[in-house]
Amino acid sequence: MPERVIIEGGVPLRGEVTASGAKNAALPLMAASLLLSGELILENVPGLRDVMTMRRLLEHLGVRCQGENGTISLDASSADMWDAPYDLVKTMRASVLVLGPLVARFGRARVSQPGGCAIGARPINRHIEALEAMGATVWLEHGYVVAQADRLKGAEILFEAPTVTGTENIMMAAVLADGETTMINAAMEPEIADLADALNSMGARIEGAGTGEIRVTGVTSLVPATYRVMPDRIEIGTYIAAAGITGGDVTILKCVPGHLKAVIERMEKAGIVIDKGKDWIRAAGEGRNSAVDIITDPYPGFPTDMQAQFMALMTLSDGISTVMETIFEHRFMHVPELCRMGADVTLSERRAVIRGVKGLSGAPVMATDLRASASLVLAGLGASEGVTEISRIYHLDRGYEKLDEKLASLGGRIWRTGG
Ligand code: EPZ
Repeated sequence: MPERVIIEGGVPLRGEVTASGAKNAALPLMAASLLLSGELILENVPGLRDVMTMRRLLEHLGVRCQGENGTISLDASSADMWDAPYDLVKTMRASVLVLGPLVARFGRARVSQPGGCAIGARPINRHIEALEAMGATVWLEHGYVVAQADRLKGAEILFEAPTVTGTENIMMAAVLADGETTMINAAMEPEIADLADALNSMGARIEGAGTGEIRVTGVTSLVPATYRVMPDRIEIGTYIAAAGITGGDVTILKCVPGHLKAVIERMEKAGIVIDKGKDWIRAAGEGRNSAVDIITDPYPGFPTDMQAQFMALMTLSDGISTVMETIFEHRFMHVPELCRMGADVTLSERRAVIRGVKGLSGAPVMATDLRASASLVLAGLGASEGVTEISRIYHLDRGYEKLDEKLASLGGRIWRTGG
């Protein structure tokens, strides 16, 4: 019987929990190891399926990867491959993050087109246009993106709209390019500043990361470094929602509260009492939550990666709330599953209307993508009767480290079976 997560809801979560390192910071940081003929040591790396996938891809490219329990050493001194094959790339779109480093390091790359996923088509045209602006010749053949450049040249890049991995790919490519690269309309997610900080500790010259305009002055080589991955702001936001939906009182440790301003603002508006210190956030649910609207937006707006989790919270709120998903065209796969648990959600295009109900009831449901599975966990925790059984939980394990164990440590009745 395949592995499932079982939840008996209705228990207010209480206690302290520690966030793991951020998946969406660890993945580009791992890809950055390709830029260096030497050792990059990363600390606080989360134990996730996606991290294992990136590790397998880097090993295929000749990077020596060692270590576990959060600290890994990556040494690309003898890396000599520039071909990222379909069977590795197809399981994780973030594999596209090796494209920029490979072109910068080897002057060429052949990376399988990542293809779409459950939440949308997710093209990489902006990545490709930017590499071409830096002097690369890029073409598509047999489902692969092939790029060649004697040496990338600094350029002024204007992104038509922000792209997180696009900004990261070009930042990494620009680090070893000849001259200065300016990225305008760059993505401003904290994970980008984390990558820039790591690259600068390796001898890169990057300014403005975290703002919409990033300047990179190319250097000829980088030096070994050790870097600690930032905490996962989406995992932290998920625990705030868990406190809210169960009427609990949870303190999340090792946070950067400043990464969650938009999430905290909406959660407080929904009635969750939030207190925060330098590196911790305390969230307490107070009875039924108020209905609150959200519109997802690039950082510093409300993150699309918290949309499904916030929707779960709103299914039990007092009133009618709307969710506008402006980033991805198909990020409502959790809705039919939430409705199986008694939620009242109607969809039109990129807009969901949620009518709060008195209670959810546990049911067998199916995870469809990473954040949808987190949404189902939250709904299961908030269900006042019945048992929730979530299948296809490999989606959950892509982006959450031991989420069921951490929630159980807060008193949640949640466990795994099968597998
Ligand atoms: C990153 O994906 C994250 N993944 C996603 O997290 C996150 O949802 C997303 O940013 C938005 O915040 C990683 O960092 C590994 P985008 P990315 O390029 O970079 C369109 C999770 O759950 N677009 O910022 O792929 C695109 O289709 C994952 O942890 C183009 O049209 O997202 C989307 O509609 C899911 N052409 C929008 O822009 C391009 O060349 C934003 O995409 C690039 C993007």
